[in-house]
Amino acid sequence: YSTATPYTTLPSVLLLGPPGAGKTALTTLLERGSSSDTLDGPVAKTHTSQVPSSIELSVNSDDPSTSYKTNLDNESATAKKFLLVDTPGHPKLRASSLMRLNAAEPTIKSSLVSDGGAKSKIKAVVFMVDAAALADGDALPSTAEYLYDVLLTLQKRFHSRGGSRAPASMPVLVAANKLDLFTALPAALVKSNLEAELGRIRAARSKGLLDSGIGQDDVDAGEEGDWLGGDGSEKFSFAQMMEFDVDVDVIGGSVIGDGPGAEKWWKWIGERV
Ligand code: GTP
Ligand code: MG
Repeated sequence: YSTATPYTTLPSVLLLGPPGAGKTALTTLLERGSSSDTLDGPVAKTHTSQVPSSIELSVNSDDPSTSYKTNLDNESATAKKFLLVDTPGHPKLRASSLMRLNAAEPTIKSSLVSDGGAKSKIKAVVFMVDAAALADGDALPSTAEYLYDVLLTLQKRFHSRGGSRAPASMPVLVAANKLDLFTALPAALVKSNLEAELGRIRAARSKGLLDSGIGQDDVDAGEEGDWLGGDGSEKFSFAQMMEFDVDVDVIGGSVIGDGPGAEKWWKWIGERV
């Protein structure tokens, strides 16, 4: 490892998503996970986040599927530490979250590192959605709008790379939360509904460009424009983001209640930090 600095800057995982999706609830769950005295206690009441906050977590690097409830101090396991950065979902507070992704090698100023200038490398993005809110349709446009901006930022990042050096690929987990609620959409429907809505947004935005008098020739939509995903394809799918080294997975889970829990998300994160 590098000996240039006396401290270690941990990599980070950026937690994004609309207000109320459960980002802070998940952060609290994982933070308390391995302290056994609070294991079965309820996740503390959350409130709307206004500033990002980060917590330090560790995965078993020998076996990322080890439960977040396992206290690695008690195991003869190799712990890999990282920061989970919880961000506010409010539309007015999103710009700074997006800005962090707008670099070939996205970093975040780590508030946990004593030196104020230290940067933590963003290894993955978790975009959390409320699968119950998506079921009645009202939340779909605003949720997809935010996801569109996240994916488009990552796509542009791919093109902004300097020289021949390709940027590191960016894995994105769409965490379909609140599956403990019987009204929630299953992960497969969260995926297809989001893909359909992202396709609608893509069509609307490109129409907006054309209506504004900017001709097709003036806009190299695939490179500079707001066109998300591969060119010319009629339907949007997350698979189209692979072309830009953005690898999207959709996995269902729950933070509270009697549902599938958070272990699958934890494993996904553990394999990527
Ligand atoms: P902002 O900070 O505004 O961006 O929202 P957030 O994404 O941090 O949401 P938060 O964690 O504050 O959760 C919002 C509400 O959803 C809280 O009342 C949580 O208790 C609830 N919630 C979170 N996860 C779950 C879940 O898995 N199931 C159910 N039923 N409710 C959940
Ligand atoms: Mg919050």
